[in-house]
Amino acid sequence: MIVSRKCVRANPASADPLESPTAPPSLATQGSAATGFPTERWQRLAGRGLHIDFPVFLAPMVGLSHAALRRAVSSYLPRSASSLVFTEMLSSRRLPTELLGASPETMHHPLERGLVPQLIANEERFIAGSLQRLRGMAPAAIDINMGCPVTKALKHNWGVALMGDAKYAEEVVRATVRHSPWPVSVKLRTGLDDDPAYLVSFSQMLEAAGAAWITLHPRIASEGRRGRARWDYLGLVRDAVSIPVIGNGDIQTCEDALAMLRRTGCDGVMIGRATTARPWLLWQIGEALGWPPPVGREGQMAPLGPLEEAREYPKAFGIFLDTANQLFPPEAALKRARFVTHWGSRWLEFGHEFWKRIARGQSTAEMQAIATEFFDVPMRMWERTELRS
Ligand SMILES: Cc1cc2nc3c(=O)[nH]c(=O)nc-3n(C[C@H](O)[C@H](O)[C@H](O)COP(=O)(O)O)c2cc1C
Repeated sequence: MIVSRKCVRANPASADPLESPTAPPSLATQGSAATGFPTERWQRLAGRGLHIDFPVFLAPMVGLSHAALRRAVSSYLPRSASSLVFTEMLSSRRLPTELLGASPETMHHPLERGLVPQLIANEERFIAGSLQRLRGMAPAAIDINMGCPVTKALKHNWGVALMGDAKYAEEVVRATVRHSPWPVSVKLRTGLDDDPAYLVSFSQMLEAAGAAWITLHPRIASEGRRGRARWDYLGLVRDAVSIPVIGNGDIQTCEDALAMLRRTGCDGVMIGRATTARPWLLWQIGEALGWPPPVGREGQMAPLGPLEEAREYPKAFGIFLDTANQLFPPEAALKRARFVTHWGSRWLEFGHEFWKRIARGQSTAEMQAIATEFFDVPMRMWERTELRS
């Protein structure tokens, strides 16, 4: 069980609410030993070359979890912490003949650590070819997508469709494990139906087939991302397996992340949509768990509250834009900057206006200038937004 402090300042903020106070030394020195993390389940994976000591992971998201967002998020990882960042789902049909880095989806930054490419796959020959190709990304592990609910995935018997055929899903995991020099994980949903007993037996099958850990997004296929994720299923699954279980779904704030860890006993949290607005969640959560600030932010505390968070937004966006500019062709960089703003602006006061202005930017430099000007006056960032999609 992870023991944590709260996501509030141990030291009251300075009189000026826009001023970042300095971190008290007690919070900056305790590290993971004080928090019960890494859990014993992660420690067992160290023997297989996987060293995870921080319980927050970036979710795979099509059009979002490319090198630019991964870098923005990783820049807020507490100093010396190691966790994982997932790529968006990659087609195992295309990968074997694709040149790595020919598309933004397969590009990676040379300094990236803890990279987990996610495969959408169901045939051994394509899996083998994909894994061969992915060596160029120096992955920490490989993830198999058993959660994608779109019609195409259902039609081709991949994504969440695999949850409807446990025997076939088992073969997919076994084939991947056979060909993979890295640990293999599975990201799944509750399933096609709301049947917790089936979910438990399916998870046990994944473990028996060789999955190193599982990530559970507890919604059924037809829910997409609507409604509330059923966090109670996380504890249910964790009790039934002995591999790490990462929980996913509806985390918007540091408090949400700590609540999921505490209430479900899961071995880590995976965050998707909220990282597009608040990539510094890793810093906030790290601070609450006693980790030091990220590299380059020594002596500072994580942005907290509407004003400080809005002030951080253009800085995070700047890291995103710089990386996109460095790695992607100009049109691809603009497209992804628009998409991340489309999501992230939902948490911003006047977010729709911000998104409209960014959408008009013709270069990453112009977008950066728009963001700088927009945030020149004090803005606010909402703690939560209604997540309807
Ligand atoms: C735009 C978008 C694309 C996504 N693409 C993927 C994907 O490629 N693979 C996957 O396993 N899940 C994908 N997801 C689902 C997320 O990984 C995550 O399970 C879901 O958003 C719930 O987590 P959250 O509430 O933290 O966002 C996607 C979600 C979004 C919003």
